[in-house]
Amino acid sequence: MTDAILTVENLTVSYGRVQAVRGVSFEVPRGGLVTMVGANGAGKTSIINAVTGVIRPTSGRITFEGVDITRTPAHTLVRRGLVQVPEGRQVLASLTIEENLQLGGWHTSGGRTDEVYDRFPVLKERRRLLAGSLSGGEQQMLAIGRALVAEPSLMLLDEPSMGLAPKVVDEVFRVIKEIRAGGTSVLLVEQNARRALRAADHGYVLASGEVAQSGPAAELLADDSIVAAYLGLETG
Ligand SMILES: Nc1ncnc2c1ncn2[C@@H]1O[C@H](COP(=O)(O)OP(=O)(O)OP(=O)(O)O)[C@@H](O)[C@H]1O
Ligand SMILES: [Mg+2]
Repeated sequence: MTDAILTVENLTVSYGRVQAVRGVSFEVPRGGLVTMVGANGAGKTSIINAVTGVIRPTSGRITFEGVDITRTPAHTLVRRGLVQVPEGRQVLASLTIEENLQLGGWHTSGGRTDEVYDRFPVLKERRRLLAGSLSGGEQQMLAIGRALVAEPSLMLLDEPSMGLAPKVVDEVFRVIKEIRAGGTSVLLVEQNARRALRAADHGYVLASGEVAQSGPAAELLADDSIVAAYLGLETG
């Protein structure tokens, strides 16, 4: 048996009559970097939001650090070290960079901002400026920095490369690998399947709310039929 930090069993998420996630099971090994790739509407955000307590699943079981968290609210999970970097960054444009980072540490003394500034010098230089003045890539770094302030043991990232130029995407993936190397387990949800699979140890391919394929990331990348069926439109 692997030592999993997160186990999701038979997860179902519905919005009224729409079943967005249908019986999805997966796990994140402690210290691992796992990716879940899928197209628009595949159910990626619904899975992340169910794990982090933002929405209630219809059925299924979610276990974090060996504890059932299926019905645990989001603020409690942040205290326990499970954080999400949401789709579209969601930085607060009319607050300063420093204020955005402090929000990530609302449940502590907020003392980890120094480490975030060390990792992202550009944020330190501009800490008194409004977050809305940052470029898209810088806002993504701020969103990741805000999550790091919470000192997570598990970080869930929802399409961090979305809308960014290729060089900035490289930077984002480099940062994600560093975070993992620092001991934080990572679940990375992406439409940019090739890039995500190259960064991850293990991958799941999500299609229409179901896991269509899973395996070591390198094997998924090397399998021409998977590439053709699910990843074919990607470049880079
Ligand atoms: N609040 C909601 N109410 C109704 N349907 C929803 C809601 N949120 C998502 N859905 C539907 O659930 C399905 C899965 O959506 P979800 O946002 O989880 O997909 P996704 O993989 O994150 O997509 P994207 O890559 O576009 O972000 C879609 O069919 C979507 O239209
Ligand atoms: Mg989404």
